[in-house]
Amino acid sequence: MLSVITVPVQPFDDQKPGTSGLRKSVKQFAEPHYLETFVQALFDCLPDRLGQTLVLGGDGRFHNDVAIQTILKMAAANGFGRVIVGQGGILSTPAASHLIRLNGVFGGIILSASHNPGGPDGDFGIKFNGANGGPATETVTDAVFERSKVLSHYVTLDAGDVDLSAKGVGQLGDMAVEIVDPVTDYADLMETLFDFTAIAEMIRGGFRFRFDGMHAVTGPYAREVFGKRLGVPSAELLNCDPLPDFGGGHPDPNLVHAKHLFDAAMGPDGPDLCAASDGDGDRNLIIGKQCFVSPSDSLALIAANAHLAPGYTAGLAGVGRSMPTSGAVDRVAAAKGLTAHETPTGWKFFGNLLDAGVITLCGEESAGTGSSHVREKDGLWAILMWLNILAVRQEPVQAIMVDHWLTYGRTYYARHDYEGVAKDGAEALMAVLESRLDTLPGMGSEAGVIERADVFSYHDPIDGSVSNNQGIRLFFEGGARLVFRLSGTGTVGATVRVYLETYETPGGALDRSVNEALQDLAAAAGSIAGISHHLGRSTPDVVT
Ligand code: G1P
Ligand code: ZN
Repeated sequence: MLSVITVPVQPFDDQKPGTSGLRKSVKQFAEPHYLETFVQALFDCLPDRLGQTLVLGGDGRFHNDVAIQTILKMAAANGFGRVIVGQGGILSTPAASHLIRLNGVFGGIILSASHNPGGPDGDFGIKFNGANGGPATETVTDAVFERSKVLSHYVTLDAGDVDLSAKGVGQLGDMAVEIVDPVTDYADLMETLFDFTAIAEMIRGGFRFRFDGMHAVTGPYAREVFGKRLGVPSAELLNCDPLPDFGGGHPDPNLVHAKHLFDAAMGPDGPDLCAASDGDGDRNLIIGKQCFVSPSDSLALIAANAHLAPGYTAGLAGVGRSMPTSGAVDRVAAAKGLTAHETPTGWKFFGNLLDAGVITLCGEESAGTGSSHVREKDGLWAILMWLNILAVRQEPVQAIMVDHWLTYGRTYYARHDYEGVAKDGAEALMAVLESRLDTLPGMGSEAGVIERADVFSYHDPIDGSVSNNQGIRLFFEGGARLVFRLSGTGTVGATVRVYLETYETPGGALDRSVNEALQDLAAAAGSIAGISHHLGRSTPDVVT
C-alpha cells in the first residue's frame, strides 16, 4: 500500500498561463515544487476529478520524462482513477486531443513548449485540455492561476517511477496507468479523413514530397503516416528522430528555422511539396515548388478546396480565424455563403465554436490550421489536406495558388516580430498607441489615411464570455490593416508582434513581392507606433 505524502509549499505568483498553457524556462520548472504547485492548483480546480481518467503525454523535450513521473504520482494521490500515457511519455498535441475524444475521458495534460527551443537551457510547458479535447478556457486557466497564488501544500504518492517504455496496463497506488502507442490511433483517424489511396498513387507516380520533423515529436507520426502508409521514401523524411533538445535547433517551422526546405523548394530541381511541423506537432509549414504558401493563404485555400477530401465532402459548417490572421479566408467564406468567425489569438477560442458545430475549419496566421476532427491545431492534418488536394487537382501548388488569387483576390500579409525586447518599452508602445486611438482616425500616414482604430474584444457567441484587450487594430482607407499585440508565449522579456496586410482584387497586381507590397504599411507601423523609440530597434528580428 503506497502512502500519500503532503508537502508544504510557498505559493508562486507567476504561474499565469499565457496563450497556450504555462510556459517557462526549464530552469524555472526545475525549481523545487514549481511544477507541483501548478499541477496541484490545477487539480484543486477540478473538483469532479475523483475516479476520472486523464490523458498524459508531451513532445519529448528535455524535462518531459521527469515531469511525467511527477504528474503521475500527483494524479494518483489526487484521486484520479486512470491515466492513459503515450509510450515513452510521448504524445503530439493533436494526438493527445484525439485520445481524449476517442476514449471519452475527463481531460488531459500536455507537456510542451511548442516551437520554443528545448534542452536544459530551453523552455518547458504544461497545458490542461478538457473533455472536448481542447485547451482549457480562460475561466479555468484564470482559476488555476488564482489557486497557485495561495496554495499551501500539494499531495503526491510515495512511489518509485513508472516504467513507460512498454505498452500495457499497470497500477500506481489505486490508479491504473495505461501505456498506449502514441501514433496508431492518430494515424487511423487521418485515414478516415483523407484519400490515402489517391495520395499514395500520386507519390508512386513521381510526386516528390519532403517532410522535416525538426527532431521533434512528429518524427514517429511522419514515419508511420507518410512513410509506411503513403509510401514516401525515407530519404525524404528528414530529422524524424525526436531529441530532447531538438538537435540544438529551433522547432519552429518557418522560413527562418526551416530555410533549407525553402531553398530546396525554390531550387531548380526541388520537391513538389516541402512541409514541416513544430515541437509538439500542431503547426505546419507548406512550401510548393517555387511557391511558399503563407498560413493565412493556406487556410483560405483549404476552405475553398476541403470538399475534395473524403472527410469534408459535405462542405464546411463555417470557418474561424484568429483576429491577426489575414482576411483571405473570409473572402472564401463570403463567396460560399459560410459564416466566418473572428476570435482572439490562441486555439482555445475555437473550442466552443467547434463544439457547437458552427465551424468545421479554423486557423491562425502562426502556422496553425485544423478542423473539428480534434480540438487542437494539427500540423500533419494540414499537410495531408494539401496532399489530398494536390492528388485530386493534379496541378502544381503554384498553379493552384494563382488560381485561388484570380478567384478571390490576394491578401498580401506578413508578421513582424520584435523578440526579447524590454517589457517596459513594449508595454509603453501598446499603452501610448491605445491612448491615441480616438485621434488616429483621419490621420495620414505612409500607407494612407487611417479610417478606424480599436482594441479587439471578443464576445464568445456560444458561452457569452468576453475577452478584452486582444490587440490593437488600425484599419486604413482602401482596406489595409495593421495589428499590434504582445506575445503571450515568450519566456524572456517581451515580444511585440506587428501584423500587416493589404488586399488586391482579382483584377489587380497579384504577383508582387510581399515585401514590396507591404513596405508602406511597414513604414507606417514604425512611425505610428514609434517602434524604434519604444523598442530601441527599427527592424524586426523575424518576419514570417
Ligand atoms: C503564438 C501565436 C498564436 C498561437 C500560440 C500557440 O502566440 O501567435 O497564434 O496560438 O503561439 O501556438 P503568441 O506568442 O503570439 O501569444
Ligand atoms: Zn506547437
